[in-house]
Amino acid sequence: MGFEGRSVVSIKDFTREELDYILDVAEAMEPLYDKGSDMLRGKVLALLFFEPSTRTRLSFEVAMKKLGGATIGFAKPEATSVMKGENLADTIRVVENYADAIVLRHPREGSARLAAEFSKKPIINAGSGAEEHPTQAMLDLYTVRRERGRIDGLNIGLMGDLRYGRTVHSLAYALSLYKVRLYLISPPELRMRREVLEEIEGKIPVVEVSDLSEVLPELDVLYVTRIQKERFADPLEYERVKGSYRVDLKALEGAKEGLIILHPLPRVDEIAPEVDNTPYARYFRQVRSGVVVRMALLALILGAVR
Ligand code: NCD
Repeated sequence: MGFEGRSVVSIKDFTREELDYILDVAEAMEPLYDKGSDMLRGKVLALLFFEPSTRTRLSFEVAMKKLGGATIGFAKPEATSVMKGENLADTIRVVENYADAIVLRHPREGSARLAAEFSKKPIINAGSGAEEHPTQAMLDLYTVRRERGRIDGLNIGLMGDLRYGRTVHSLAYALSLYKVRLYLISPPELRMRREVLEEIEGKIPVVEVSDLSEVLPELDVLYVTRIQKERFADPLEYERVKGSYRVDLKALEGAKEGLIILHPLPRVDEIAPEVDNTPYARYFRQVRSGVVVRMALLALILGAVR
């Protein structure tokens, strides 16, 4: 379908057909999660992480290795020439000589787009400030499809920091390509960004509320996010919203049977640990999906699967 050599900067660059195809390839990767494969032998993936990460970095690394490829990179820019003042464009023009594709996480919005303009090798955006996190959205779609059997026809709630959370921005764009009803649940201060609303309203029905209890009985999927403390310009603004929502067993009374709860992780305090052992909780299974989806994406971009 023409994925070879392609960058993944924004989820908006993908059609529904393309996303469905990536999910199909991810499903086909499931047996290789245990067995492994040699399909990317000789290929090198660079992982450039200018911001903290556990899952995204490790899951790209393990996805590449399960397919027989190698990884290089850094998780702390403090140990690199960035500290000597090297700019992102120069870093990319150097690293493209070492790697067949580059995974980039950077605090600046627009960083992945800029890198893709300079790079001869595909850039995979692993988080560009508060803007987007497209591969997370792909694994979120995959998890919904896997756990609920489909995406069309579902009522999906996105809850938490919809203002600064990049995963919910990418996921909202992606879901607007499906036949879903979207419920946006957040404190008024953390409402979904206007630019995202403008893009999705008109494509799918969108309902904004400030409290989970207003919409809980409608929901088939509840996607919870943490407050993105590090993105607040004003620490007092963070103090005002801190702890303003929490999903616990009591908050889930009246939920539909079959509701699933997802979370990109890391969790802070927005889902009580008592929820972990309920059938609703799927956030740790979601982590496994991240590996097969990234295996699929790497195999497609590096030309091992067409
Ligand atoms: C998310 C991120 O980095 O945006 N983490 C992840 O990649 N799973 C979510 C978050 O940090 O809250």
